[in-house]
Amino acid sequence: MQEANRLKRLPLYLFTIIDELKKRAREKGVDVIDFGMGSPDMPAPPHVIEALCKAAHVTENHRYSRTDGDVEKRLRRAIANWYKGRFGVVLDPETEVLPLIGSKEGIAHLSLAFLNNDDIALVPNPAYPVHFNGVIMAGGILYNIPIVPEKGFLPDLESIPKEVVKMAKLMFLSYPHNPTGAVCDISFFEKVVKWAHGKNIIIASDLTYSDIVYDGYKAHSFLEVKGSREFGIEFHTLSKSYNMAGWRIGFVVGNAEILKTLNKTKSYLDFGIFRAVQEAAIAALEGPQDFVTDMVKLYKQRRDVLVDGLNAIGWKTEKPKATFYVWTRIPHKYSALTALEFVTLMVDEVGVAVAPGTGFGEYGEGWVRFALVENEERIKKGLSQLKKLLDAKV
Ligand SMILES: Cc1ncc(COP(=O)(O)O)c(C=O)c1O
Repeated sequence: MQEANRLKRLPLYLFTIIDELKKRAREKGVDVIDFGMGSPDMPAPPHVIEALCKAAHVTENHRYSRTDGDVEKRLRRAIANWYKGRFGVVLDPETEVLPLIGSKEGIAHLSLAFLNNDDIALVPNPAYPVHFNGVIMAGGILYNIPIVPEKGFLPDLESIPKEVVKMAKLMFLSYPHNPTGAVCDISFFEKVVKWAHGKNIIIASDLTYSDIVYDGYKAHSFLEVKGSREFGIEFHTLSKSYNMAGWRIGFVVGNAEILKTLNKTKSYLDFGIFRAVQEAAIAALEGPQDFVTDMVKLYKQRRDVLVDGLNAIGWKTEKPKATFYVWTRIPHKYSALTALEFVTLMVDEVGVAVAPGTGFGEYGEGWVRFALVENEERIKKGLSQLKKLLDAKV
């Protein structure tokens, strides 16, 4: 059986290759220190787990979710209130809030909902893979905007050719940024709103990491900017802020018309979110937020141990101001290798796994990403393993 062309057009999913490498190493008895996937290693808050368990005992919650149901309405209100509290952005819970089965689902379906074969999507590269893979799956045309450290990993909008802009229907942005950990200030979003005005391009901001910020940095919502809602939407998730990655719940907010079309698309494809998970999400959004503060403290500690440790062994690396990722160039002595070759070497030689930069697009070549999902003790163990690789004669 031949798979569809749209599947063939997708780039190789590098995480599958890394998984295979890790499996091989583990079969040999290696204790792999795994900084690969951005899957939080800590549990959701206890009161959230409680809410899930309680709601799972209610028969009504076992039925299909319905937009006009009670928990569904309360969840949309909870999201709107959370947005107001976090960013001062006022949303109509009925038309400007749409819960998702994880934000990845919504991001992929956004491309499906809006892109025809001759529509371009503008995607900064490197990026979270579904930003570009969703475009390819939907049959749209992908235009990568390279983002580089010299420009703070922010896209240079003026560099996009006029003909491309004319054919563009969608643009993704995501700050704090995965995989680079880059951040932006509100003036960048203001510039984007000014640029996008009158161009009929949907601006989809992905604010997944807004809570995971350090050193006094405060993340902004794109929707804080006046005029943004004419074409702007914003994705968010409970996966990272509340360690609910496996629970599959996120949401998108902003322009009501765009959300309506996305909802229409989803209505043909899914039945919404398990109601017990919705109850748990309400508990997370409305409950005490000191859990988030404590979690961020822990990530900061891990970031400092890892980055200070990498610099101490001669791997020059900068501290990100946000996200739980550390994005760094392949050490100089291995710079002749591709990112995938270097990551293979790391796993095979010293049992440390990271994500190759090219897993996030071609402009990730020469870089790797550490996810801070191992505890401090294991980070230290990983560092002493990596030291062997950096000290080795090549
Ligand atoms: C930038 C970004 N957006 C979206 C997601 C997906 O999150 P969710 O678990 O809500 O699908 C991730 C997950 O790593 C991410 O890094």
